[in-house]
This record gives sequence, C-alpha cells and structure tokens, in this order.
Amino acid sequence: MSSRVTKAVIPAAGLGTRFLPASKAVPKEMLALVDKPAIQYVVEEAAGVGIDDVLVITGRGKGAIEDHFDRSPELESHLEAGGKTSELDMLRALSSLARVHTVRQGEARGLGHAVGTARAHVGDEPFAVLLGDDIMDPEVGVLAGMIRAFEQRGRTVIALRRVPPEQIPLYGCAAVEPLGDGSGLVRVLDVVEKPAPEDAPSDLAMMGRYVFTPSIFAEIERTPPGRGGEIQVTDAIRSLIASEEVYGYPFEDGRYDVGNKADYLRATVELALRREDLGPGLREWLVERLGRP
Ligand code: UTP
Repeated sequence: MSSRVTKAVIPAAGLGTRFLPASKAVPKEMLALVDKPAIQYVVEEAAGVGIDDVLVITGRGKGAIEDHFDRSPELESHLEAGGKTSELDMLRALSSLARVHTVRQGEARGLGHAVGTARAHVGDEPFAVLLGDDIMDPEVGVLAGMIRAFEQRGRTVIALRRVPPEQIPLYGCAAVEPLGDGSGLVRVLDVVEKPAPEDAPSDLAMMGRYVFTPSIFAEIERTPPGRGGEIQVTDAIRSLIASEEVYGYPFEDGRYDVGNKADYLRATVELALRREDLGPGLREWLVERLGRP
C-alpha cells in the first residue's frame, strides 16, 4: 500500500430526510450555499489538498450531482458567444477541478455500506472520505492535517471534535488516549455509534472526515447491520481497531453539517459574509435587522 492519498470518496446517496421538503427532488448535497452547491465545496476541499480522483457515491434522484461536475458544451458555447468570459472560466474551472466519478449505492443502507461501494474504484490504496453534506472551512486545514498524519503513520486517521452532551447521541463517539508526542493526535481505543450521553466513552465525536487504509473494506464487508438497521462505518472502524492502530485528529471550529437546517443557515451567512461582492452589504443589513424585533 502506498502512503500517498490520491483518491477521495464522497458519500452522497443518503435520503436527506432532515432537509425535507427541499431534499425531495433535489439532492441535499446540491442545495446551494450562496451560489455553489454544498458538494462543490467538498470537491474543492479535496482538490485543495491535491486529490484529483474523486468518487461520489450517488443513488436514485441524484443525477444532478453528475451533471454539475460534467462539461456542458451547450452552456459554454452560449456564454462564449455572449462574451461572458468570467462565467465561462468559472464553468471550465468547475469541470476540471478533479476527475469526478460516480457509483450508485443502490439502496441507502448506511454510511458503511456507501463507503463499501467504493472498493472496486479505490483498490488497495489509502483514501479520504468526505461526507457530501459536511462543509469544512478550508482555512482550518483539517483534511490537510489528517493527510499529513496519515502519510507519517500509514494508519487510519479520523476527524474528532468535542460536542456538548446533548449532541452526543447524534454522532459516533470515540474513546481515546493522548499520544503525548507533540503531534496533537490521539490514539482511538474504541468507537460507538450514537450512544446515550451517560454511556458515551468521551465527548469526542467523529466529524465527517476520514483517511482510511484499504483494510476498512474487509471490515465493512464483515459488518452486520447495526444501529437503525444500517451498516455503520463506526462499527467497521471498531473492528479495524482490533487489527490496526487508528488515530484521531482533534479539531475545533469550522465544520458545518449542511444536512441540518440550522447549520445550513449558519454556513450560508458565514460564507456570504466572507464574499467581497456580498459581505459588506449583508453585514450592514444584518446589523440593522438584528436591531429590530
Ligand atoms: P447522513 O446521515 O447525514 O445522511 O449521512 P442522510 O441519511 O441522507 O440524512 P438524514 O438523516 O436522512 O437527513 C451523511 C452522508 O452520508 C451519505 C449522505 O448522503 C450524507 O452525505 N449517505 C448516508 C450515503 O451515501 N448512504 C447512506 O446509506 C447513508
């Protein structure tokens, strides 16, 4: 196995029930934050750390994701004829961000099952998993840090963030011990999917980014349906820990679960405030609006 991470897998085949009715006919990963669909931020994050081979796990009704990353000659000629060069450049840059492949999950049988469908494409190589509805602030550099850690250690690295007790039942939770070597990494001793706060081994939750050794595929194949009848990636990681070291990469801020309406709104405002064309006007309006009941 090489220790270079050149492939990313983006699971985007979930049903998106938390975002109904918007996600009924439009994949939640295609809902726009400002003027880009969520999944474009995720592909840009992968491309930003040098990954140029991206496999998106899709399903029925998710065709818009494929179209979004494909060339669109008709639209391009229309823009060219109208002299709209900046829009044209933007579209060309989008379709050359990375080689974007897709595979269908068939049935939404859980995140572990979704990752398992990537096996033939990924082969015997390490790979990153970025959830298609989790946006990370690129300035925080979580994925870049995780890949550096992977390249040094050659073992699975998972992103972890502290959450308040009431949020623990929403996540996979990790029992960890510090490595104490100044790297900031922790050793993951166990993981458990969506525990009750009183049963949680810690307040560290797994947060949408993973860099896996290919051994995870064999573990996923052996993993029976778990919580909610789904094949959970958490259960596969738990088995992986029995045969390989797994490291945790703790981080603090800059992650938005845009499959959740409140986080989606926060991410939209944050991203818009950073834009030169929209930020100043929006800030002014927000200040004025917040001064009113
Ligand atoms: P979520 O748990 O957020 O997705 O999965 P969901 O099931 O679509 O959401 P809700 O709870 O019904 O609103 C995290 C990511 O994993 C993908 C989702 O598309 C999302 O990007 N996923 C989840 C799959 O690809 N396949 C699955 O079977 C489940």
